Amino acid sequence: MTRTTATQPAPPPTAAAAFDPYRWRADFPALAQEIHGRPLVYLDNAATTHKPRPVIDAVQRYYERDNANVHRGVHTLSVRATERYEGARAAVRRFINAPDSREVVFVRGATEAINLVAQSYGRTHVGSGDEILITGMEHHSNIVPWQMLCEQTGAVLRVAPLNDDGEVLLDEYERLLTSRTRIVALTHVSNALGTVNPVIEMARLARHAGAAVLVDGAQAVPHQPVDVRALGCDFYVFSAHKTFGPMGTGVLWGRAELLDRMSPYQGGGEMIRSVTFEKTVYAEPPARFEAGTPNVAGAVGLGAAIDYLDHVGRCAIAAYERELLAYATERVQAVPGVRLIGTAREKASILSFVMEGIHAHDVGTVLDQMGIAIRSGHHCAQPVMQRFGVPATCRASLALYNTREDIDTLVYALARTREVLG
Ligand code: ALA
Repeated sequence: MTRTTATQPAPPPTAAAAFDPYRWRADFPALAQEIHGRPLVYLDNAATTHKPRPVIDAVQRYYERDNANVHRGVHTLSVRATERYEGARAAVRRFINAPDSREVVFVRGATEAINLVAQSYGRTHVGSGDEILITGMEHHSNIVPWQMLCEQTGAVLRVAPLNDDGEVLLDEYERLLTSRTRIVALTHVSNALGTVNPVIEMARLARHAGAAVLVDGAQAVPHQPVDVRALGCDFYVFSAHKTFGPMGTGVLWGRAELLDRMSPYQGGGEMIRSVTFEKTVYAEPPARFEAGTPNVAGAVGLGAAIDYLDHVGRCAIAAYERELLAYATERVQAVPGVRLIGTAREKASILSFVMEGIHAHDVGTVLDQMGIAIRSGHHCAQPVMQRFGVPATCRASLALYNTREDIDTLVYALARTREVLG
């Protein structure tokens, strides 16, 4: 089968060479601190990224000047807050090249977005004996909501297996797509392995089988341009806090014709057109899915993060990180006793590994003493750990502000860890 990647073509190497991470890291106040007397080396960006000054300022400015509830008042502050909130929605539309801002729903994060689709789209379109297909590399947030839906409906969860490099076995995936498959849910980039799935091809096959396609983009949008139209999916979700924006905000993008036919996920204020004790008429999307006062400051911060990423240049970020990941891969796997988990041909920003004879948590603790933040554990992807026969991995995850120097410090510290604990 021909592999196509869901990203734009790799930019020429000169784009990476011209990228200056030191220029950008100066925008992130949290990076300029010491941990245990050493300069912070932050390599836990898959868990959350730090926030650049323009994002912090935008949130602060919102609370200092514009704070009011949205869509609810004719007074100046409410109008301003509404403009900021809807401006952020328009920024998200551009960010993922969605056809229409009405297709952008603000939620708490990628997890809530997936639960929304499972409970709203899923409860209507999935019945007993139907199938939901996911991949073996999904985060728990793209497993558990579907298991819950299966329990509620009598549907069956199918899982496309992985090869030893951590890539979906596409022939198996294709075999598992049947006339019973109602939903395919897959990650764009694996948070535990770094694998970039060939989403265009997988979505094409799924839609050919008549299934709706949800893509978890939480680990993709901070690192590469994303175009939901080019991907050919029906739903795309991501979290602001992994995208240099605030915590507690995320996005569900859904194709209008699907959102229009979906029932609300939660009831409350703002999601209605009219209410009597006898009957409620729901609002059109996206309001239908945004019950209650939204996280306006979160949306404003996400809008600022998107502006920031556009300013840095998303193709340039992708090219730079590709080069940095290649450097990190070569250097880390040369450390004695290190074994990489996740060696897919197409990878982004994540380096998972184990150190022979040393538990990942112990590695993480020693590295922290040297000022280095990585994540150790199962990364909310226990089935991935089971697939590779390890209880946990160490994970260094990159962002636009990481440097070769960060990688050199990590490699030095891993060698020291071996000496101390090995
Ligand atoms: N999903 C986040 C991670 O991979 C928290 O670390």
